[in-house]
Formats: sequence, structure tokens, C-alpha cells
Amino acid sequence: MTSVNDLRSSFVDYFARNGHHAVASSPLVPRNDPTLMFTNSGMVQFKNTFTGVEKRPYSRATTAQKCVRAGGKHNDLDNVGFTARHHTFFEMLGNFSFGDYFKDHAIELAWNLLTKDWGLPREKLMVTVYQDDDEAMELWKKIAGIGEDRIVRLGAKSNFWQMGDTGPCGPCSEIFYDHGDHIWGGPPGSPEEDGDRWIEIWNLVFMQYEQQGDGSRTGLPRPSIDTGMGLERIAAVMQGVHDNYDIDLFKALIGAAAQATGADINGEGNRSLRVIADHLRSMSFLIAEGVLPSNEGRGYVLRRIMRRAMRHATLLGANEPVIHKLVPTLVREMGQAYPELSRGEALISETVLLEEGRFLKTLGRGLQLLADETRDMGEGTVLDGASAFKLYDTYGFPLDLTQDALRTRGITVDQAGFDAAMAAQKAEARKSWSGSGEAATDTVWYGLADKLGPTEFLGYETETAEGEIKALLKDGAEVAALAEGEEGFAVLNQTPFYGESGGQVGDTGTLKGDAVAASVTDTQKHHGVFAHKVKVTQGSLKVGQAVTLVVDHERRSSIRANHSATHLLHEALRLVLGDHVAQKGSMVSSERLRFDFVHTKPMTEQEMAEVEDIANAIVLQNTPVETRLMGVEEAKESGARALFGEKYGDEVRVVAMGEPTSNGLGWSVELCGGTHVRRTGDIGLVSIVAESAVGAGVRRIEALTGKAARHRGNTHVAIVDAAAGLLRSGSHEVLDRITALQDNIKKIERELTDARKKLALGGSGAGAAASADETVNGVTYVGRTVEGIAAKDVKGLVDSEKKRIGSGVVTVVLKGDDGKGTVAIGVTDDLTARYAAGNLIKLATAALGGQGGGGRPDMAQGGGPDGSKSAEAIAAVRGAL
Ligand code: SER
Repeated sequence: MTSVNDLRSSFVDYFARNGHHAVASSPLVPRNDPTLMFTNSGMVQFKNTFTGVEKRPYSRATTAQKCVRAGGKHNDLDNVGFTARHHTFFEMLGNFSFGDYFKDHAIELAWNLLTKDWGLPREKLMVTVYQDDDEAMELWKKIAGIGEDRIVRLGAKSNFWQMGDTGPCGPCSEIFYDHGDHIWGGPPGSPEEDGDRWIEIWNLVFMQYEQQGDGSRTGLPRPSIDTGMGLERIAAVMQGVHDNYDIDLFKALIGAAAQATGADINGEGNRSLRVIADHLRSMSFLIAEGVLPSNEGRGYVLRRIMRRAMRHATLLGANEPVIHKLVPTLVREMGQAYPELSRGEALISETVLLEEGRFLKTLGRGLQLLADETRDMGEGTVLDGASAFKLYDTYGFPLDLTQDALRTRGITVDQAGFDAAMAAQKAEARKSWSGSGEAATDTVWYGLADKLGPTEFLGYETETAEGEIKALLKDGAEVAALAEGEEGFAVLNQTPFYGESGGQVGDTGTLKGDAVAASVTDTQKHHGVFAHKVKVTQGSLKVGQAVTLVVDHERRSSIRANHSATHLLHEALRLVLGDHVAQKGSMVSSERLRFDFVHTKPMTEQEMAEVEDIANAIVLQNTPVETRLMGVEEAKESGARALFGEKYGDEVRVVAMGEPTSNGLGWSVELCGGTHVRRTGDIGLVSIVAESAVGAGVRRIEALTGKAARHRGNTHVAIVDAAAGLLRSGSHEVLDRITALQDNIKKIERELTDARKKLALGGSGAGAAASADETVNGVTYVGRTVEGIAAKDVKGLVDSEKKRIGSGVVTVVLKGDDGKGTVAIGVTDDLTARYAAGNLIKLATAALGGQGGGGRPDMAQGGGPDGSKSAEAIAAVRGAL
């Protein structure tokens, strides 16, 4: 038996041997198309290559592409469980020619693989061609050697392939396999074609046109080829079973589901087991890509798939969460081909378990209500919209879950009534905010949030994606276009740009479309709507346009590193300072990070060094940073750090990094909606550059990471080296040399002061002033004018003069460099009964143009603005003796 895994590689190898470049599957959330909810076929990643917008270094490619058809143009959700061949998730094998070969070689390659390499009997195969495609008809006859009786002409409905409402398209030719007359069904085009006997296994699309949004079709630059073969269908053929759900892969998944629920594989519950096995794959692959269950957009499609699977588990008798238990089996079966499954295993299991726990709380009561409401209803009746809405609103039943539950009984749901109930509820909510007196600008954003719903954020997974412009704002009002040079805000259906929140700044970058370009200088978030601040640099930006959004990668990388480092510092601070360290605020930009926390005293140098060391040790672990979705209570119980007083939704993103400690999740675990590095090593380096107070009991540290931290280190090393050069020393001696220099300077200053004093008193240099001891009224009087010494040294001079004369009165006036005068007067102790220095000083300061001055009877000091009057000051004292 050829396993699914063998078949996948056999296909890719065959086309690689035939000159095709083997390309990896692209993500399920398309990066290059704003109109598609999920990648629904192999050609999606090559869309722009077909139209010539994107050039690739090869003109032939082959892929095994993961696809989800659960929303939009190609939606198989309702068929799952009811047919042998429909899936919400499946793999499409394909080969592509971008203007290289066309119909003939495509047919030849396909026919040879099927009939030669894989040995399928020709008589079991039939083909279809587009009704007017005579060329294809002739080629099939010639190349495959089959007669017209085995070639069916069909119309556009089945033989014209289109990706979605827009995009590359063309007539196609399909290959069918006959599973045998023991199964009901007829060949393509016959009234019984919907049966499971004749199954389409391969679709060869002759890509020739591009479908435009306005309904017109333009030609592709060159005719191309896009083929798609469902891996599960061909596996059924190759494994000799007619039902996709009987292939090895599904047997394993269904077996695991039967075991987990206790259901009998061959019994009544078989349909439910198929639904669970199918939905397990789509939910797991979507979660692995970062799509998480929510009430909007892709997240809601995921939630619908998950809840539908959960209802089927309940039908099988499971009252406890079981779906998450199946994840390991899926990872075992598919994890090798898709490593993202293995990497995301924990995230997938936890997310599924969380959703199971949440939904199981209301599922039983919802089912009871449904049973009560429909008790007396028979086949062909319609459940009213209000009941379906109540199931949705109160019990979390997506509409299609209710429809699915009633389908086997032939009961449908009044969808218009359901929509009306939904609209009424929205109108109620609108009333409550429109009357809430918000500022006018806020009202605009509320209005947009109401009209458009929240913007889908793709930026956890990608920095580049296409989006469709849903609204433009200029000066606070909606406009249809922004012309070249104009500034305003753009709102798109989805974006990789992070809108400022949780302390992390908004992204910047560019926005480009057909003949239009704009720079994005900031991104803000208002009520879930992402507002891109744009300046149009070329052409004109219009509502309805599809544009490619590119986040400034370097800037975002620095922001990621700074945000992750903030988490590491937070935890390190707790370890070093204690558990009282609660986050008070943070700011994460591309340049630096700031973190405010509760702590009453300044951190010591040693504490800062310890914190930095610990954070850098986790950087060096280079362990993956993991994000989970958790219930808020559960997250807090697990020890995740949350901001006190912050309002969180029911479900929160939990970011864990570093090797787990006791909580099992990680060394640092925080509730956080920000963007982070993939591995801690991406932070590079954490360097604390400042510590300060920001308020009572709140400290702030600032830090740099990666390049910025390294640059700062380098700058500092360069400064030390330059200093060493000046000092003519080795850099390790710089500190000793500077200390020695400082000591030396102090010594020299002291010597200088002494020298000046000496000079002022006795010398004949510039600082000295001529004077002589006089005798006035029988008392020795010394009056001197000095310059060039410090004011604080004047008293010292007076003291030495007092000592020198033994008995008498001394006046020393300093003529300062600034022109002011400082005067000190001393009276020897034997004379203080006759003269008080405190009185004499007043006369001297008056002469200098000042007033007052004071001191003890034996020593007083004062000053005045006019130092040139020193002689007058000396004379004034003399006159008083
Ligand atoms: N795009 C085509 C399909 O999905 C062939 O790959 O059927």
C-alpha cells in the first residue's frame, strides 16, 4: 500500500525530475491576497507570478499545498461527513508552468504519471474538457490515445476554474477515476454525477485570463498551467478504497477519535468520527499558523470548525474534552511533512482544550434548548431565526452548528430571521456608545468599528501581506481617496502592522498598490480598528484598492527584541529585588525600552548588574519564545504576570520564554498582546543604561538591546581607549592614572594657595601690597590690601598678622578679581574691651559701599561692591581707634 506520505513525495519527485522547482507549501492565511480568507488551492501562492507582477527564478514549479475550504468561494464545510470526498482541510498536489509549457505538455505529464509511474488502468479514467476547447479534446485523443467516448465536454460551471472573485483563471480539463459499479454514481455530466462512483482526481487549469474586480477579464502575459490533485482522493485510489476517510491517514485519526470517545467505528457514529477527524486537521493547522478562535473573521471560522467537532464528540457520548487528546496522533501522522505541527503541538492542544472547556459549559444546555424548540418539528420545517440567534448569543452555537444539528432531520433555519436578530443586537450596542458622550474623533472610530468590524492582525506571523482599503480618513472625516502628497488614515480589512498598545509603539513601513504608494508613519488602534497614518507618495489611494503592506523590518525587529527583553528584565527584577516588584508601566520602541515598577529605594550598582546578568543568561539559552491562548483566570493561576488593574478579555495571549521553572510554561510568563522575538537569542544583548525614580515608590529602568546595546558598549570602549591614548597608558590603567592625576592636582592646588598667601603677606610680588605697622592712639594698627587670594583665606591672613604683632588691630581688604571687596578685621584679646571687631567692620564695609558685616569681638568679616575703595576702608578703621 502506498501511504499518504509516500504519495506526496512521489508526486513532487516526479515533477522535480521533469524540471520543476519543488516549492514548500505557503501558509493557510494568504500573504498575497486580501480577498481570500484561506489558501484554497495550490496556485494561490503563485497568483502574482501568473499575472507577471512577481518574477521567480524558475518557470516550472511543483508543490504539496495545505488548503482550507471553509469560507468564501470554495467552501466544503457543509459537505464534510456527508460525502466520501469532501474536507475542510486537504492537501493539493500541483504542477505549475509560468509561461513555460501549456496544454500539450501538461496533459502528457499528467497522463504519464497516472498511467505509467503509478500504473492506473487507462480504462478506469475519463476526462472532461471545457465545451469549446477543441484543442484540449484533440490533445487528449492524441496524447492519451483515448476515444471521444471517454472525453466529456462540459460548461463553465464545472470546467472554468477561478480562484475567487478576482485572480487568474481559465478553462480546465478534469481527470476522473471510476471506483467501480458497486458504488452508486455516474460519469461527469450524467444525472448521477454527484454519486461517489466517478471521482474527480485531477484538475488541469489552462490559465489564460485574470478576472478583474469590475467583472472584466484581461489576458495573462503568457498562457500558463495550474494543476491540482487532492492528495486524499488519489490516496484512496492508490490504496484501493473508494472513500477518502478509509485511507491510512484518516484511519489513524478516526481510530484515535473512536478510542477517545468510545464510539464504534462501524456504528452510527461513523459520520461524527469523520467530522472530528476532518475538523481536527483544519483546526490544528490553523492554530499552528497563529490563527486563534475568536468571534471575528478567520478566528470565527476556526471557532465554528472547532465547535462543530465538539458537538459531534458530544453526539458520540463524550462529556469531557476529548478533541485535544487527538492532537498527538495528528502530529505523528503529518508532523514530518509539516514541521509547524510538531513545533506548535503544545499550543494546539492547549488552545483546543481551552475552547472545549469553554464550549462544553453551555453546549449541553444549548442542545437541550434545541431539542425542546424542535420537538414537534418534522422534515421540511424551518426553525425560527430568534431561537437560532439565542443559541448563538447565549450558548455559543455558530449558525452552521445549529444547521448541521438539524440537517439529518430535514429541518432548516430561518437565516433572514437570524440575521435580523443579530442586526437588532448590534443596533442596541450602537445606541449605548453613541450616547456616551465620547469625543467626536472617537465617535468616528466607533462608527468604523461598528461598520467594518475589527481589523484582522496578521503581524504575529508575517510582516508583509496584502490588504484591502476599507476606509480612508482626512482631517477626521471619511473620504473616498487620498491624493498624492496628502496625509490621513487608512483602514484595511487585515494588516501586518502592529497598532500601538500595551506600551509597544505602532509599526511604520510602506503601502504599495497598482500605481500608488504611501508611507506609513505610525499605526494606532481604536476599538479594534487599526488606523494606519499614511502619507501618499505616489498616485492616489482609494477605498476598495488592494495594496501590499510592508512593515519596516529592521525597526520591528528592534521592537521585538526590546519587548521580549522587557519581559526578561521584569522577571529578573523580581528575583533580585523581591516579589513586590509589580509592573507600573512600560514603553517599548525601536530605540530603547523603559520599565517602571514598584520599589522604594534606588537600585544599587550590584543589583543592576545582577538583573542584567540574569536577563542575559536567558538570552544565551536561545530557547523558543512560545505564545499560547489561555483563559484569563487559568493564565493567572499558572503564575503568568498580569498588569494589575488592566482589563483583559476572557481569553488572553500568554507569552513564555526561557526554560520552564515550576509552572511548566517558561521562565518568564506574561499576559501580553505584543510582538516578540522567535528565540531569546534574537535579543542579542540586554544592557541597562539608566535607573531613576518616577514617583513615590516607583522606579524606572531603561535598557538597550541588540545592536543599540552593542553600539553603546563600543562607544564606551572607544572613549576609554582614547583616554588611555591621552594618558599614555594601557586602558586597564586608566582609572589608576586618573586617580593619581586628581591627587596630584589637589596637591598642587594646596601648594598654590599657600604660595599665594605667603606672597600676599610678605613677598613683593603681585599679590602683596605695601603697608607698614603704624601706631594710632598708642595701639599698633596694621592695614593691608591684598589681591589674588581666595576670600576664604582673608581671615587666615588676619590671624597670622595678629600673631605677628602680639597686640593691636588688623584690617585686611581683598580686592577681588570681580572688583568686589572682602574685608576682615581682627582685634587681639587684650584690646577687645576697647575695640569690638564687630563694630569696626561696619565702618569698613560702609567704605566699600556695602553695609553690615559681623562677627565676634576679636574677628569680624564683611564686604562691599567696590573693592577699589580699600584704602578708604583701612582709613575708616584707623579713624575709629
Ligand atoms: N486551481 C485548481 C483547483 O483548485 C487547480 O489547481 O482545482
